[in-house]
Amino acid sequence: MDVNAEKRQAGDKAAEYVQSGMTIGIGTGSTVYWLIQALARRIAQENLGFRAVATSEKTAHLIRGLGFDVVSLDQVKHLDLAIDGADEVDPRGHLIKGGGGALVRERLVARAAERFIVMVDESKQVQVLGKFPLPIEVVPFGWQTTSDRIRDLGVDPVLRLEGQEAFVSDNGNYIVDAKFKAIPDPDRLYRSVKLLAGVVDVGIFAEFKPLIIIAKDGEVKEQQW
Ligand code: A5P
Repeated sequence: MDVNAEKRQAGDKAAEYVQSGMTIGIGTGSTVYWLIQALARRIAQENLGFRAVATSEKTAHLIRGLGFDVVSLDQVKHLDLAIDGADEVDPRGHLIKGGGGALVRERLVARAAERFIVMVDESKQVQVLGKFPLPIEVVPFGWQTTSDRIRDLGVDPVLRLEGQEAFVSDNGNYIVDAKFKAIPDPDRLYRSVKLLAGVVDVGIFAEFKPLIIIAKDGEVKEQQW
C-alpha cells in the first residue's frame, strides 16, 4: 500500500475522534491534509460543528477555505483534542516533529489539549529516534553562533532552505536540521538543546502520552500511551 493511501487512512481514523461541540487543534503536514478532508466531509454530511486552532498559517489557510470555525489558541486556551502528524515515532511514543517547520505552535497546541492524537504511516515507526534530522527552531539573530553551539554536541546542523533563501517559520525564525543518528534518551537531548542560547524549540516531543494511530498494510492500529 502506498504511503499516501496510508496517510489518508490514518487521517480518516483520527477524524472519527472529533465530536460536535469540541474545540480541537489541527496540526500541519501531508497526513493532516487527509484529516482535514475527512473533517470537511463530516461537516457536510453530518453537520459536525467544532472550533479549530491551527498549528500553522498553512493549515489555517486551508481550513478557513473549507469553512471551519477557526479560533486562536488564546481565545480558547483549552482544547479537547489536538491531532497532528509526526516524522518519527519510537516504541515508547516519543516523537520527532517539525519536518513541516511548525514545531513551536504544534507543541503549544498539543500542550493545551486534553488528548493528543498522532497519525503516522508505517514508514515513521523506528526503534530509536534520530534517522530523521532533528528540526531545531533558532532565532535569526546570530543563528550561526547558535548552530556552532549545536555542533558542539557532535552533529552537523544544516540551515533549512526554501529555494535559495533560509526557510522562515510562522514565528519569524530559522530552522536548522541536525542528524543525531540515534537519540536513545529523547528527553535528555531535548533539554540540552533547548537550553542553548538562541534555540527557540526542538522537534523532540517526549512529554506527551499520545494516542498513536498507525496505518500499515491497509490496516489501522491504535496505541494509547
Ligand atoms: C510539521 O511541522 C510536522 O511536525 C509534521 O507533523 C510532520 O512533519 C509530519 O508531516 P507529514 O504528515 O507531511 O509526513
